[in-house]
Amino acid sequence: HGRTGRAAKGLRFEPVAPNTADKVTVPEGYGQNIVIRWGEPILRGAPDFDPERQSAKAQAGQFGYNNDFLTLLPLGSRHRGHGADQLLVANHEYTDEELMFSGYDPEKPTREQVEIAWAAHGLSVVAVAGERRTGALRAVPRHPLNRRITATTPFELTGPAAGGELLRTEADPRGRRVLGTLNNCSGGTTPWGTVLSGEENFNQYFANAEKVTDPERAATLKRYGVTGGASERRWEQFDERFDLTKEPNEVHRFGWVVELDPYDPDSTPRKHTSLGRFKHEAAQPRLSRDGHAVVYMGDDERFDYFYKFVSKKTMRRGRSAEDRRHNMSLLDEGTLYVAKLTGDSPADEIDGKGTLPEDGEFDGAGTWIPLASGDRSFVEGMTAEEVYVFTRLAADKAGATKMDRPEDIEPSPRTGRVYVALTNNTDRGKDGKPGPDEANPRNANKHGQVLELTERHNDPTSRAFSWRLFLVCGDPEDPGTYFGGFPKDQVSPISCPDNVTFDDFGNLWISTDGNKLGSHDGLFGVATAGARQGEVRQFLTVPTGAETCGPLVQDRRVLVAVQHPGEVDGASVEKPASTWPDGPGTYVRPAVVAVWPEDGSRVGR
Ligand code: FEO
Ligand code: CA
Ligand code: CA
Ligand code: CA
Repeated sequence: HGRTGRAAKGLRFEPVAPNTADKVTVPEGYGQNIVIRWGEPILRGAPDFDPERQSAKAQAGQFGYNNDFLTLLPLGSRHRGHGADQLLVANHEYTDEELMFSGYDPEKPTREQVEIAWAAHGLSVVAVAGERRTGALRAVPRHPLNRRITATTPFELTGPAAGGELLRTEADPRGRRVLGTLNNCSGGTTPWGTVLSGEENFNQYFANAEKVTDPERAATLKRYGVTGGASERRWEQFDERFDLTKEPNEVHRFGWVVELDPYDPDSTPRKHTSLGRFKHEAAQPRLSRDGHAVVYMGDDERFDYFYKFVSKKTMRRGRSAEDRRHNMSLLDEGTLYVAKLTGDSPADEIDGKGTLPEDGEFDGAGTWIPLASGDRSFVEGMTAEEVYVFTRLAADKAGATKMDRPEDIEPSPRTGRVYVALTNNTDRGKDGKPGPDEANPRNANKHGQVLELTERHNDPTSRAFSWRLFLVCGDPEDPGTYFGGFPKDQVSPISCPDNVTFDDFGNLWISTDGNKLGSHDGLFGVATAGARQGEVRQFLTVPTGAETCGPLVQDRRVLVAVQHPGEVDGASVEKPASTWPDGPGTYVRPAVVAVWPEDGSRVGR
């Protein structure tokens, strides 16, 4: 109990031991409940989940598959019907057909199965109600603000590349209206009350890149990982826009940050071209002192980059419809930057194993290199439109720093310091690949690191920053790990940081994806300052095959999205690797879980 008492405020719980149980394991004294599962009806008229009788129509009114990003927004008194007190917005990144449909044939999906998958992608908006005596949270079906966004919902393209030639298709000759959003991974909540969501691995939905002969087109497709013949889900058999030989530009209309106004169920969500096109992990905005919106963004790929966007206009504090319209245009215009980092230790002290250099820290300086601003390009040989649509190629030319898979990036609301989850990079140092540098110091990096970035003068619009590695993850007994300087015999092992969030005390909470230490993924809290800085404490673990997503830490509860439970090679409905959350004889179902202190106290107190 001694350790519990001494931990930083907000992290006073008995850490959960690493394990491989097919359940959500929480600290002693904490309860949990399922907030909502895949397939639960949220819209009026949607039927109850029946896995043997699924339909696209039903799915379009039910909670989608593979929940990732989560946010909770306040509900005004006008919307508090049915006991609802908050609005949950969740991303549905992708579908696991083998775990969704019994007897699924990956080579010959039926039209109904494909249309169910379209409807299971996207986002859900669903009102939730907190229980009075516990921290339990329940979904409120049929609430008027509940909404589903799917792979066929109309979106508006906005910003400088909208309407351009690269974004025009046969179905949309104006280049301004896209059907659907795909592979929505993590996201962010804006200070003006909307939600951002990153379109990540959109490459997997497009077929026949191998038949594209134009060398320039082939090169851009390859840089984005769009390769091969038939797509994994064979959607091109049912909608030609997913076939690159039939519709060359549809692929350019995915890979953006999208913005949704969850308070207006009739609003058209947007895709913001000014934030660039890449495999967007997330997008968490903050405001500069004078009100510019600054958005940090990671491109989740080995040796790819992280970025920031600074808006030209400033946010209005008013709440009128006009103020809201103004704020929702903030991301239409601004400057897009990519990060370049240099270490301050001699290169020969970076040995590729994680040994600390002589100055005792992996640290250094950095600059934000501008790529484009409005209609102006800063990259030689590329127009602004090309910079936005082929942002990876622009950043290559600008000489940005190739990172170990940048995932979620969030500024601490307390200190302004920015935390970058670099999840892993097993290719670092391989033949023909970049070797280690001070920010990415390990070859064959299995466990990842968390980088802390401080903008000059703590000004988010600054062009310069300093940085250090806050965590070099892995087994604390491995000499190549680092936990913010905290004694390593007193921390929880952590591997593959992915999503990050903060609690009210400024502690950083990290969820993992792909734990390479032999136990399941989980959620961890760590103090970023003070005497307990670097003391990583594991709060929960997730079931077999799952990654931990969407963490949110509130006063009374912690919320996580359990994504792709049961996703194990060779698993299927007939041969499940997990039967979470409902047990033997049921379909495994991605779900959102709330965890709370059973004695009615506050999390970690
Ligand atoms: Fe969808 Fe980078 O995780
Ligand atoms: Ca150093
Ligand atoms: Ca992620
Ligand atoms: Ca991930």
